[in-house]
Amino acid sequence: MARVETSSSRPYHLVIFGASGFTGQFVVEEVARTASEGPKGNLKWAVAGRSKSKLEKVVEQAAGALSKPELRTEVDIIVADVEEPDSLAAMCKQAVIVLNCVGPYRFYGEPVVKACVENGAHHIDISGEPQFLESMQLNYSSQAAEKGVYIIGSCGFDSIPADMGVLYTRDQFKGTLTAVESFLTVSAGPDGGCIHEGTWQSAIYGFADSQKLQSLRRQFNHKPLPTVGSKIKRRGALFYSNEIQQYTVPFMGSDPSVVKRTQRFLTEEHGATPVQYGAYAGVGGIGSVIKLMFAGMMFWFLVKFSFGRNLLIKHPEFFSFGLFSKAGPTRKQMEGASFQFALYGEGYTDGEDPSQGKPSGKIRTLVQGPEPGYVATPIAMVQAALTILNESTALPKKGGVYTPGAVFAKTTLVDRLNKHGIQFSVI
Ligand SMILES: NC(=O)c1ccc[n+]([C@@H]2O[C@H](COP(=O)([O-])OP(=O)(O)OC[C@H]3O[C@@H](n4cnc5c(N)ncnc54)[C@H](OP(=O)(O)O)[C@@H]3O)[C@@H](O)[C@H]2O)c1
Repeated sequence: MARVETSSSRPYHLVIFGASGFTGQFVVEEVARTASEGPKGNLKWAVAGRSKSKLEKVVEQAAGALSKPELRTEVDIIVADVEEPDSLAAMCKQAVIVLNCVGPYRFYGEPVVKACVENGAHHIDISGEPQFLESMQLNYSSQAAEKGVYIIGSCGFDSIPADMGVLYTRDQFKGTLTAVESFLTVSAGPDGGCIHEGTWQSAIYGFADSQKLQSLRRQFNHKPLPTVGSKIKRRGALFYSNEIQQYTVPFMGSDPSVVKRTQRFLTEEHGATPVQYGAYAGVGGIGSVIKLMFAGMMFWFLVKFSFGRNLLIKHPEFFSFGLFSKAGPTRKQMEGASFQFALYGEGYTDGEDPSQGKPSGKIRTLVQGPEPGYVATPIAMVQAALTILNESTALPKKGGVYTPGAVFAKTTLVDRLNKHGIQFSVI
């Protein structure tokens, strides 16, 4: 089993790196809220980043927002910069787990993963960037295994609902689940909502570099996973979904990549039946479709050129029709927003022979929760960390670079999320 050390050998169970970022500040609040769920009811934690004064402000803000004045004196500050390897090493030596909120990960992620592996700290991130996530798997799996360290990517809204949702659906299905399609809808409250520019930047550079992902995947030299049951149907680039009663497009984030990697791990390591997966996101009515097409065309054109990318980065509100903004959502907007992630599964019911004919069993499950980017993401990230700290015997025996589904399949992460407002149910 990989090492999950206690605070007796390292001063902090958790260090939140990038705590001064838009997302990082809410991860700080979530850690402060759930500190009593740490090992033996106690969690030792610190914040880290490149600017001491910004980190002091974040702690001050959390103390005010949560009415916990004690945070001002109890939370230690570590100054560390991605550009300074020694500072990263010093940070990692003090942590059992680093919660890494510094993105875009394609630019800043690798030195942090490297420092964690070299200095024996587990690493949890909220990246939704398949290229970063898969290249960490390619480059650090064996070193992480040697060091007994877990490097776990995509532990935010990308891609815990999808990855754990498919596993939950599999566990609830009475038989052999063979395929799942997921349909995401995000609802804004009366005050509207948006996504902070950090995610917009990650998306811009991800699309600009999408060809590299194909060549990276070839380096794994994977055999295709066997298809069990009917081959999952390919939907179009835009279609009306009867499942969620609105126009729908393929989901462009990391969910398909992450779910596929989990299914490969479970098939290759545990002989599980691979579940095929398709991910879709609702767009809304015809007015939203027109806006999306217009914004999509501008995006595809501009993202190819460096001047275009600079324009996109300078004016997120304009080019995304207000979906992304420099300021990010207000707390009021976040309170009003929510997500619903509906999973439609099929498979062979108990008694049906998976080697004969088409599967006839159906199941529908739902993962639902609060605003995805800055409420659900910190909840998922922090519960992932608490699961590592509290359930070491349920984790894979070896360290390595893992997806959430691969590392948490045998833990109680879904129950923990249920208790914290991200609910999994059969419908
Ligand atoms: N999975 C999900 O659903 C989800 C949800 C939300 C966010 N995210 C991802 O999380 C990442 C952060 O997003 P965000 O909106 O929070 O971005 P942000 O506000 O720009 O935060 C970036 C953070 O990185 C820090 N940073 C930048 N360069 C650094 C360096 N050289 N050394 C140390 N720290 C450095 C910044 O520090 P300073 O404050 O000092 O500038 C800041 O704390 C993005 O990749 C985004 O896609 C994912």
